[in-house]
Amino acid sequence: MKGSASDFRVGLTFDDVLLVPKFSDVKSRRDADTRTRFSRRIQLSVPVVSANMDTVTESSMAIALARLGGLGVIHRFLSVEEQVAEVLKVKRSEGVVIEDPVTLGPDRPVREAVAIISDRDVGGIVIVDGSRKVVGLLTRRDITLEDDLDRKVREVMTPRAKLITARKGVSMEEAKKILHSNKIEKLPLLDGRGKLAGLITSKDIMKRKQFPSATKDAKGRLRVAAAVGVKGDHMERSRRLLDAGADALVVDIAHGHSAYAIDTLRGIKRALGDVEVVAGNVATSRGALDLIKAGADAVKVGVGSGSICVTRVVTGSGVPQLTAILDSAQGAADSDVPIIGDGGIRVPGDVTKALAAGASSVMVGSLFAGTEESPGPTILREGVRYKLTRGMASLAATVDRRVRETRTTGPGEDEVIEEVIQENVPEGVEGLIPYKGRVEEVVKQLVGGLRSGMSYTGAHSLTELRKKAEFMRITSAGYKESLPHDIQRVA
Ligand code: XMP
Repeated sequence: MKGSASDFRVGLTFDDVLLVPKFSDVKSRRDADTRTRFSRRIQLSVPVVSANMDTVTESSMAIALARLGGLGVIHRFLSVEEQVAEVLKVKRSEGVVIEDPVTLGPDRPVREAVAIISDRDVGGIVIVDGSRKVVGLLTRRDITLEDDLDRKVREVMTPRAKLITARKGVSMEEAKKILHSNKIEKLPLLDGRGKLAGLITSKDIMKRKQFPSATKDAKGRLRVAAAVGVKGDHMERSRRLLDAGADALVVDIAHGHSAYAIDTLRGIKRALGDVEVVAGNVATSRGALDLIKAGADAVKVGVGSGSICVTRVVTGSGVPQLTAILDSAQGAADSDVPIIGDGGIRVPGDVTKALAAGASSVMVGSLFAGTEESPGPTILREGVRYKLTRGMASLAATVDRRVRETRTTGPGEDEVIEEVIQENVPEGVEGLIPYKGRVEEVVKQLVGGLRSGMSYTGAHSLTELRKKAEFMRITSAGYKESLPHDIQRVA
């Protein structure tokens, strides 16, 4: 340790500062342009992404956020198969053309079709023979009232003779006309030999209208990112996630300024080629720079900033989040690599401050854990609905992970749990968070606050926000004044 206490730098977080209002010619909040980038090559319409936590992001959250113009990062505390299935659900949820629709053979039992429709969350299955020739279509409607689940699919499907299809390469306008004039919802596409070549659905066409700012890939499918670790199956996992269509991998490690993270990042880039890889977490300029040098396409910033983190308490290490973002953005300044401010977002003003400090997007955990789209049920306590949120380094999450990794059930499971309890030093906690309804409502508040914040700074774009932003440090009296005060609050 060098220096004396007077040499110590001061670390600041969101509540320590305010943005000084500036002259503004932004006429309406709608004129504030929130377009940004998640990583070097992934554009977003709104700078909000959901955290790779098991109480926050699986396919439902990722679909909802991508539709709103943000992005979800599917957590990695699943088997490879399960995580791949979540990615596929997002990629198949809508698209210009679903290139690889869900299929089943005509002699399979209806029971299997029911399971597929529910597991894969699709409205129908294209029925194909052994050479992928289309022989029929089975939709949710065909089986909803079917009592005999042992019947063969061919007995309940719409057979090929009655099926409306189109040729591969049909234009979207033409497909729309066929769907509309025949009052059908699904249009299988066939190649010259009658083999399945894709599927167009009326739902997807509607969604395109409903969500014009959605985050989509070149094929019109929603984008999704997926987290991977730095040990064990991470290379195989990365490969399988990319094969499933994941748009970016997020190398997820608590201390990302480490040889582990850098080696993993380099390893993925070397083995898997031209893939978008986000790395983190770091909290310093040097940390960001080292990950960028190792090939990161975005750097995730935040050590101990999350609402469910106790890393700073347990380890004594961390950097208050505003300083972490400011410093990391400085480290990234000579590159084209965006910074993701991860953790600590509690109110819309925090988003504006994080972006003004140099983040290109913010990652949100617990604030989204309370929404309809997060994994897990709602819990009723004394008439109030809650959902669960937990740190990925909490005791409960670690126990679940170890039990899954060792695939132990029964008495063996008790031993694994005991071992974790004995050895583990948790760096996260778990807790209840009030149920907040659909994530769209929360995003609306965050982005609405950001747009207003941009207007107070006189910024039409996020680049301008960053340029014009002037932070002022405030005292505890100033912070107190910022909150509602001296009233009996009723709403
Ligand atoms: P918020 O504040 O949005 O933060 O809930 C989400 C971020 O917190 C990080 N995270 C953890 N950090 N121990 C930690 O120190 C943990 O157990 C833990 N779990 C999640 C993570 O970066 C996430 O995106």
